[in-house]
Formats: sequence, C-alpha cells, structure tokens
Amino acid sequence: MTTSDQALNRVSYLKTDRGEIPVYASGIVLQDESAYTETDHQVWQQLYKRQRQLLPGRSCDEFLDGLEALKLGPDRIPSFAETNVLLQRQTGWRLVAVNGLLPDLSFFELLASKQFPVTWWIRKPEEIDYISEPDLFHDFFGHVPLLANPIFGDYLQAYGAGGVKAAGLDALAYLARLYWYTVEFGLIQTSAGLRIYGAGILSSKGESFYSLDSKAPNHLGFELQRIMRTRYRIDSYQQSYFVINSFKQLFDATAPDFTPVYQQLADQPTLAARAITERDLVFQRGTGEGFAELGDV
Ligand code: PHE
Ligand code: FE
Repeated sequence: MTTSDQALNRVSYLKTDRGEIPVYASGIVLQDESAYTETDHQVWQQLYKRQRQLLPGRSCDEFLDGLEALKLGPDRIPSFAETNVLLQRQTGWRLVAVNGLLPDLSFFELLASKQFPVTWWIRKPEEIDYISEPDLFHDFFGHVPLLANPIFGDYLQAYGAGGVKAAGLDALAYLARLYWYTVEFGLIQTSAGLRIYGAGILSSKGESFYSLDSKAPNHLGFELQRIMRTRYRIDSYQQSYFVINSFKQLFDATAPDFTPVYQQLADQPTLAARAITERDLVFQRGTGEGFAELGDV
C-alpha cells in the first residue's frame, strides 16, 4: 500500500502515550491500480481468454451476461472503482479490496451489506493453473459477474445476514458447506443443459471440464439439509456436485429461518464428500475413479 492509500484506509485514530496511532479496517484496503506490473496484467489476460473461450455452453448465461454488463474484458486487470459504478447501478452490490481471507464475522457482515471482498493481488505466472489461496482472478472473474444478477445477489446477501445470525449458534460448519456447494461449486440445470455457476469451477480450467464431463463425480439434486451435512474437498476437484434448477429455487429454499434446521442437523451424522443416500436425486452416479479415500474437510 502507498502512503495515500493507507491514509484513505484509516478508519480512526487511537490516542496513546506515544501520540496518535492509526487504526485500520480489518483486512480492507484500496486497490492500487498503479501497483500492478505488466506481468500481472498478462496473467489476467491469459486466464481471462482461456476461461472466456471455454465457458460458452458450460457456464450459465447469467454469468456471461454479468461479464458483459460489467464490461469485464481481457485487456487489463479491471478497476474496482469502475466496476462498482456499473455494479451499483445493476444490483447495489459493491466490491471492496482485501489482502486475503477475512474473519468469518467480517465476511458475513460485508455480504449482509452487499459488499463483496475481492483479493486485490493476482497469482504469479508459475501459478497459472493452480493456486491454493483465492487471488484476484478467482475472486473477480469467478464471483463478481453473478453479483450483477438480482436473484443471486439477494441469495448472497441473505447468506451474509444468516451468517451474522449464526455466529454464536455453533452452525458455521453448516453454512460453510452450503457456500461451498453453491457459491463455489454449484451446477445449474437449464433448458439448454447442465451449466456451471460456482466460482471455484468458473475460475479453473481443469474443473470447468471435469465438473461437467467427468464420469467420476456425483451430480445430485440440491437439497438444503443434505448439503449442510456433506463434507468437502479443498485439495482436489469435488467428488459431488449439487445441481439447482434455478437461482429462485436456491433463494426460496434458503429463505426460511435456519434456527430449527440447525437443531435438526445437530442430531444427524455428516456425510462423506463422495456419499450417495437413498433419498438423493441422482443425476449422475459417479464412478469415483481417481478419488482419494481420505481427506474430506
Ligand atoms: N434463512 C437463513 C437463516 O435464517 C439465512 C440464509 C439465507 C442462510 C441464505 C444461508 C443462505 O439463517
Ligand atoms: Fe471463492
């Protein structure tokens, strides 16, 4: 951060015996567009072009519409400020730049107020195909286009409000699984066929193919409590993907108060990432080929 960025990011001063010291908002910074190198812009361009080319026929239309509505192109790393002008007009969402992951409660509070945290830095050229931490490409390319969709945006805001409420209820694991299997790795059935809406898939070349084309993973119908019981993988492609019919279904299924849901779930065992139960709506029964036995989170 430059000195002026730091000044703008300062939220208050604390008077101490050493004089006044600045206090910063937790994790939130300003995007310093001048700090990006040509290499950074090239990494964006390479990843953008690769994904943009393979996503028609794979990603849902709402995602491609969002890229267009927000004028997100390949040339350079997009400006948060410019995107915010368009995004706020569309749905009232706003991006805030962050250094990385935020504490749960800060994350929930941002979403509840229609602010989406986006990592300001981008991966290095040697990390093009895989990076374990979310970077700008994952956060911006993967997540931001759907913020331009009113129903998906409302779902994410409700998720944030639900998270604020759940903090203290011992329910964060349930909400984390829901986020994982929808916002990050969700699939959607459309009249044209099965499509991707999860950001973790949309920002990954390998998983954009694997999630739809591989016979190894399960494709199961969205069911709220079922998903909230399902463990997941953070070190490999998913062993199960959950399929929604529409964003409206997602919004409606998650609209009721979860307090009784959490109580019911407390008595039920979790499910392995690869599990199928009798009650599942099975679109594809995965072969499980190549699955590691252990390692669910
Ligand atoms: N309806 C949920 C609750 O009462 C809030 C929520 C909405 C949580 C959407 C997740 C997703 O807690
Ligand atoms: Fe993400």
